[in-house]
Amino acid sequence: MQHYGMVSKLSFGQETHSTSRRWKPRSNGAATEEKVFEESRQAFLEVLKLISTHTDDTIEGWKRLLRDAGLSSEEVHLLTEGDYRGIVRGLRRLTFQSFRNRLTQLGEELARRGVGLEHVISAHTLLFEACRPFLQDVPSEEKKRLITAAARVHSMAVRILVSGYAKYSDESKATLMANLSDVQQRLLGSSAYVTTVYERERRRLSHDLHDEIGHALIMLKLYLEMIAMDLDRGKVREARPRMEEALSLVSSAIDAVRRLVQDLGPAIFDELGFLSAIKRYTRQFSARTGIQVTILEAELPENIPMSHQVALYRILQGALSNVMKHSKAKNVKLSLGSMKSSVLIMRIEDDGTGFDVDALSLRRSFGLTAMRERAQTLRGKLHIQSSRAGLLTKGHGTRIEVDLPLGAAERR
Ligand SMILES: Nc1ncnc2c1ncn2[C@@H]1O[C@H](COP(=O)(O)OP(=O)(O)OP(=O)(O)O)[C@@H](O)[C@H]1O
Ligand SMILES: [Mg+2]
Repeated sequence: MQHYGMVSKLSFGQETHSTSRRWKPRSNGAATEEKVFEESRQAFLEVLKLISTHTDDTIEGWKRLLRDAGLSSEEVHLLTEGDYRGIVRGLRRLTFQSFRNRLTQLGEELARRGVGLEHVISAHTLLFEACRPFLQDVPSEEKKRLITAAARVHSMAVRILVSGYAKYSDESKATLMANLSDVQQRLLGSSAYVTTVYERERRRLSHDLHDEIGHALIMLKLYLEMIAMDLDRGKVREARPRMEEALSLVSSAIDAVRRLVQDLGPAIFDELGFLSAIKRYTRQFSARTGIQVTILEAELPENIPMSHQVALYRILQGALSNVMKHSKAKNVKLSLGSMKSSVLIMRIEDDGTGFDVDALSLRRSFGLTAMRERAQTLRGKLHIQSSRAGLLTKGHGTRIEVDLPLGAAERR
């Protein structure tokens, strides 16, 4: 009888074999246990019958003993909740298999709920104690037979409960290990990814510096040397046009520096503010590419954090560079707004060829992945929708939407 309470949380109406399929008990003594169980079964059911007339008192007595033993009220509740009358009825049809499966499951469940193993074992012993007074009226010869049977089933139940604990810790260890290796893989992947993106940015910057500013400075040096020679030789008139050339080189180098600084982002916000910086960027994009950009701006919250400004700016750069490289679009619609001042929303829609979003290879789409990760870093989301040109009767193109939530602190 002593295991009923603990079996209470498992449904006795139906057999569950999944436990034994997923996990094999370590003990090879199952056959012996089954034999002991069968030998004790009849006497055990008699014990059940005797005690079932005092179920409520038994449970009350058991709860008292558990509290006295120092178990927390939550543990007492977890151990003693259940429909005992139903359980006792179910136990009459009990087989060794179901007895073992349910107790293993119970051990697992109690382990998962964080009840200490030592508490489960002592609760089990105390249930035995709580039952004992109700066996007092049995004639002493009978009593020996019944108590022996109950004790045999009891010790077996403890063994099986403990194996449920072991199973839980095996499985949770396996799950932990699997999660750990998943996290490790992702970390490795993302650090490799971050390094690659970082490297690419550095390379792009070095190319831009080299092409746009390096060339200009080399030419400038050449012109200044020629001017110096001209002046040495007293050829002031020849020096004049070279001077003009040099000045125009300096101007274009200054422009190039401006453009690079703008590409780098943040500094430009200090100078212009977020919206003006975005507008200037799109104006220059249109001038360079011939793609018309229309801006629809709804009300934006004040004091958008710098982290969010930079993320939106970068995502816009990524999206526009894709429009330019892949879309053959003529028009882009950029919408900026917010929802209840608690989520920033930016949408970039083009009327280009579109592409198959499902067929994207994440390995190769650095641009989109970088955009998505930027949003995720700020607990935001990036949604990509695209319809291929020609496949739809109406409309085609790509729409990128980024939603960035603003925390309570940021909204203030
Ligand atoms: N606006 C768009 N119109 C059409 N196709 C697009 C658009 N944006 C993205 N794509 C498609 O999605 C792919 C992935 O884009 P992503 O920005 O991730 O990589 P990429 O532009 O090819 O390379 P990278 O950005 O790393 O230089 C592109 O190669 C392109 O096929
Ligand atoms: Mg790209």
